[in-house]
Amino acid sequence: MQLWHGGRLCTLAGDSGWGLIDDGALLVDGDTLRWVGPVAELPPEAAAAELIELDGALVTPGLVDCHTHLVYGGSRAHEFEQRLHGASYADIAKAGGGIRSTVAATRAASEPELLAAASKRARALMAEGVTTLEVKSGYGLDAATEARMLRVARQLQGLGLTVRTTYLAAHALPPEFADADDYIAAVCLWLPDLFEQGLVDGVDAFCEHIAFSPAQVARVFDAARRLGLPVKLHAEQLSDQGGAQLAAAHRALSCDHLEYLSPAGVQALAQAGTVAVLLPGAFYALRETQLPPIAALREAGVPIAIATDHNPGSSPTLSPLLMLNMACVLFRLTPEEALRGLTVNGARALGLADRGRLVAGQRADFCVWDGEHPRELAACFGHNPLKERVQQGLRGGA
Ligand code: NIG
Ligand code: FE
Repeated sequence: MQLWHGGRLCTLAGDSGWGLIDDGALLVDGDTLRWVGPVAELPPEAAAAELIELDGALVTPGLVDCHTHLVYGGSRAHEFEQRLHGASYADIAKAGGGIRSTVAATRAASEPELLAAASKRARALMAEGVTTLEVKSGYGLDAATEARMLRVARQLQGLGLTVRTTYLAAHALPPEFADADDYIAAVCLWLPDLFEQGLVDGVDAFCEHIAFSPAQVARVFDAARRLGLPVKLHAEQLSDQGGAQLAAAHRALSCDHLEYLSPAGVQALAQAGTVAVLLPGAFYALRETQLPPIAALREAGVPIAIATDHNPGSSPTLSPLLMLNMACVLFRLTPEEALRGLTVNGARALGLADRGRLVAGQRADFCVWDGEHPRELAACFGHNPLKERVQQGLRGGA
């Protein structure tokens, strides 16, 4: 057992508030938090544990990045330039760039190449405290390349973090298909095989005028349900398609982006208990001006998560800490809401209830920061105060 002793703990234990424990301690038993509380109330078994002094450092739950597209080939920096010259994300996609350009580069990349590139990106996220990571496929759009991406995502787990894989073949129409309905039929056929290979933890789709309609997404969700797989949705990013209502009807774990979410969509998410995942990196990089309906989400009690949405096009960021700051500055989340979004609500968006808080019985995934108060993590930007990252009780360094 390890005794992490004498730090300021931000437990996020209740449904609101930081859950601060000044001069606190954590007792870690294998991969689990055995006890969390004030030093003054240490249980007797702490006497035999290996002592690790926190020296007043700040401790938070490990960060959960619940929406990424970390595995891909190529770069889309030229599209950044095109957008600066006035082209929109949708214009670029319609002209054959965007997702389809990354599909070409990903199909051309070998598994070791994809793994090497994705490992670098995962290490960057880990260096800012990520202990659980979701990775989507969706740049293969054929059975073999989607499988390759998902295998690479699974292998990232060897770096020292939990990886949840999401099958996102309904991301764009690949060039070899003329008809979107035919492609959706193929996507639904590939899924059981990938699932049997143990490559799929959840299923996602892109519901948008430049991607797939709610009716097409519903077919993918039905295929997921037949396998007992949870679903998520890229919804209302560029327009209101009613994707949130569809996702809620399928008891989706999360709906992501949501800038154009309608009042009816908010109510649907609230009733289904679906998490709203906000992606300030994509909002910022696309110079979006339509804000997600934060006040309505709050009022309806929809849990809010935030994530990097790392991808080569709309959100090429590898900084979860910057997302904390942007969630506050751009979306007006409070620092506490932002941190909950990147911990306990991020975990919920992945269907994981065993992490995201510093509470006895949860997994021993936590971060030690150079700082006094957790609000500093959101207030600062362009600075990484991580001192140490602990994942399943293993000290991983910073
Ligand atoms: O989450 N919106 C769709 N999918 C990704 C972007 C994919 C891309 O541009 O390569 C997103 O923003
Ligand atoms: Fe995305």
